[in-house]
Amino acid sequence: MCGIVGAVAQRNVTNILIHGLHRLEYRGYDSSGIAVVDFKSNLTRIRCLGKVKNLENALKKKKEQVFGNIGIAHTRWATHGEPSEINAHPHTSGDIAVVHNGIIENHEELRKILQSRGYIFASEADTEVLAHLIEWELRFSNSLREAVQKTTIQLEGTYGIVVIDRKNPKCLVVTRSGSPIVIGFGINENFLASDQLALLNITRHFMYLEEGDLAEITYQKVNVFDIKGQKVERKIIESNSKDHIAAKGQYHHFMQKEIFEQASSLKNAIEGRINKDLILTNGIGVHITKILQKIEHVQIIACGTSYNAGMTARYWFENLAGVACDVEIASEFRYRKFITRSNSLLITISQSGETADTLAALRLAKKKNYISFMAICNTENSSLVRESDLILMIRAGAEIGVASTKTFTNQLAILLILVTALGKQKHFISIEKEKEIVNALNLLPKQIDNLLNLNQEIQYLSKGFIDKKNTLFLGRGEFYPIAMEASLKLKEISYIHSEAYAAGELKHGPLALIDVNMPVIVLAPNNELLEKLKSNIEEVKARGGILYIFTSIDTDIKTDKGMTVISLPSISEITAPIYYTIPMQLLSYYVGLIKGTNVDQPRNLAKSVTVE
Ligand code: G6P
Repeated sequence: MCGIVGAVAQRNVTNILIHGLHRLEYRGYDSSGIAVVDFKSNLTRIRCLGKVKNLENALKKKKEQVFGNIGIAHTRWATHGEPSEINAHPHTSGDIAVVHNGIIENHEELRKILQSRGYIFASEADTEVLAHLIEWELRFSNSLREAVQKTTIQLEGTYGIVVIDRKNPKCLVVTRSGSPIVIGFGINENFLASDQLALLNITRHFMYLEEGDLAEITYQKVNVFDIKGQKVERKIIESNSKDHIAAKGQYHHFMQKEIFEQASSLKNAIEGRINKDLILTNGIGVHITKILQKIEHVQIIACGTSYNAGMTARYWFENLAGVACDVEIASEFRYRKFITRSNSLLITISQSGETADTLAALRLAKKKNYISFMAICNTENSSLVRESDLILMIRAGAEIGVASTKTFTNQLAILLILVTALGKQKHFISIEKEKEIVNALNLLPKQIDNLLNLNQEIQYLSKGFIDKKNTLFLGRGEFYPIAMEASLKLKEISYIHSEAYAAGELKHGPLALIDVNMPVIVLAPNNELLEKLKSNIEEVKARGGILYIFTSIDTDIKTDKGMTVISLPSISEITAPIYYTIPMQLLSYYVGLIKGTNVDQPRNLAKSVTVE
């Protein structure tokens, strides 16, 4: 989704900005732009449709080198107005240039007011309203800061806004509400971005702005003001995040790299949280024991892949910990009247920690009577982490591919550890069961490494999908949400329409769709539901459906007419949902490759959805 980079220095900041935009490309966008001002107050603005590379080329084509000691840059993911050069940021008005993440909900009303004041709009973008409004307010203000403060009072919606004034090329003004902004500190130069990843190659010292904060940034100084306009100090932290953005290494795509990294990312997730036989409750939080004892209900809120992780964990919470669990999509939860159960723990799950709907749902829930708010997250210092009481980091490392892979399996591993700790506190899980779960988790990284040997077999299989328009994924029990995740992955990466069904529901509708043009992928591990699943397989087979069945080597399901069986090594039932996810990810990856899609940045999608 939209990305912001800003810089003020005594040297030319153009390359810093372009480099920062490249580092934000993974988030998904459709156009980009840059505006820089030099010491003599000359403003250069360039915008392009498509990739940042186009912007870079446009800069190179300029007769003279583009120079600016202050500047802002942006990658835009269209919300208001189609993807086009005209709608791309920065937007300008008079001496003002603005970039913006978020949505200004009252932009139509403001547009009318500004038109009545004589402003002529060049684009359909809501951000242009901001440029004109700030330009207007500046006429009656003593500083750019004052003009921005007067502007934000009039806004409804969410924003991270950065403004420069051609006439004062020494100061960036930035403010946020609902969209993250991080300030990066250099030596005699300062930076800002919507994601610290954009700046990790130039600084390790960061300050996160809080809701409603506004900052004035010069190359020497950063002054922060809170929502009331009072000068405040915000903590500067030193990041120890590794700069993972660097390279794909031996891999062709980040998605492929991230699929193959899962053995090691899982090791990171479980390290210090389990030992040979035991779940280490302290390893998931020092004060967590008291809270776990009280929990009678768990409410999970998430979006996308993170929601599918929550759906899988629901089975675990009820089966393994005996605690009732509800899971809801954040965008639904936040807009309905919900009943808070007694002694309920609210868990948000999010890779980025910045998903607008998940954050809004958390903020809403905080007004209700939950016993605590836990975030299961991959991004340190994200808004979700900063606003929650209990934090469980999934430690998957930076995930660059837009479609989540390693963060899903790490989310599952962490959720399983949490459920086991809860079951233990509730005396629901026996010592033997705990041992079994811990043992299964300990074995998993190695088993996943071995499973990746199926790579070529799945690549071969993917050829069967080249001309397919629809696909159906089936699973039962906790394999139903794994089928949902598999289906989401295929849809995102290959653009093939896909649905996931709980296999028992087949006869209530989807059977009508079965024909030779619709591959049906079945997740059939060797568990207590296998016999039921076999009947569902027969239902498809009898109607001429094309089946691909992923099962365990120790079942009696064998390849037959219209039925390709992929046998996986047998594995503990407990970790099997994590394990069966891997071939599903590989399948989407290879189908995407065959279809020629951009697997790392699928069209229209964003890694971190910071608008609702
Ligand atoms: C976007 C991404 C998905 C992700 C979802 C939720 O749609 O493309 O991969 O699952 O957002 O994101 P979160 O960061 O909250 O897990």
